[in-house]
Amino acid sequence: MTALVKEVAVDAKPLVQARNVHKAFDQLEVLKGIDLDVAPGEVVVVLGPSGSGKSTFLRCINHLESIQQGFIEVDGEQIGYRVKNDRLEKLTDNGIAKQRRKIGMVFQQFNLYPHMTVLQNIIEAPVGVHGESRKDAIENARQLLKRVGLSEKEGNYPRQLSGGQQQRVAIARALAIKPKLMLFDEPTSALDPELVGEVLATMKDLAKQGLTMIVVTHEIGFAKEAADRVVFMDGGVIVEQGKPEDVIGNPQHPRTQAFLSRFL
Ligand SMILES: Nc1ncnc2c1ncn2[C@@H]1O[C@H](COP(=O)(O)OP(=O)(O)OP(=O)(O)O)[C@@H](O)[C@H]1O
Ligand SMILES: [Mg+2]
Repeated sequence: MTALVKEVAVDAKPLVQARNVHKAFDQLEVLKGIDLDVAPGEVVVVLGPSGSGKSTFLRCINHLESIQQGFIEVDGEQIGYRVKNDRLEKLTDNGIAKQRRKIGMVFQQFNLYPHMTVLQNIIEAPVGVHGESRKDAIENARQLLKRVGLSEKEGNYPRQLSGGQQQRVAIARALAIKPKLMLFDEPTSALDPELVGEVLATMKDLAKQGLTMIVVTHEIGFAKEAADRVVFMDGGVIVEQGKPEDVIGNPQHPRTQAFLSRFL
């Protein structure tokens, strides 16, 4: 068997381009000018203390929050806007929904539909929202379940699964819309310690297979092993970024050093 060599297309046009992103909630400035490019196939891990704006930044990428300055482009389209007659126009709800089809998101709380089986949870968006045929959606869902190691659970309800299994179903569900980009916001924080490993293993597999991922996590081990780049955020700005061995192994900024010293 040949090893799968992951390619990060660093020379290609970035899949994500965030420029000078500002976000405030009333008087509270949460993002103060974030610049970040993510190449196709790249895995970026975002670290930072509580309240530094990590979740807010992910939510802006997915347009769950709107930004007040700067722009975010995903796959060549500006999030939340379209160009019409050389002018920027706010997208309609329908337009926003279309952009979100390119972006899968996995949260700390898995929020599976409790009254649906695992398979029904996964095909719900492709069939119900995106008009895919049931047959194709089921076929794809079964492949995804295989990928996350849960083929035998397709007929089970969420309450019959462990937290780690539920989170892996949530990952499969997010993948079912065939996103170009996956956002993970502390996907293992709500799990019992013994269940964290299986979810991280699934995410490492996805990373190896070349999925473009932005992952907010406190799992330093995952960052070291799976990240192409680590970004350290504090106070609404990116303080330091680079290869994991540099940022984690030899942090330059005092704030990064202070943050990482907790994990030693
Ligand atoms: N909808 C909102 N309304 C008002 N303030 C908000 C809102 N969402 C987030 N904030 C504030 O923005 C700041 C950044 O929050 P955010 O959730 O992005 O931090 P975080 O880095 O993800 O933290 P954690 O590690 O605790 O998840 C916090 O001060 C938070 O209270
Ligand atoms: Mg958060």
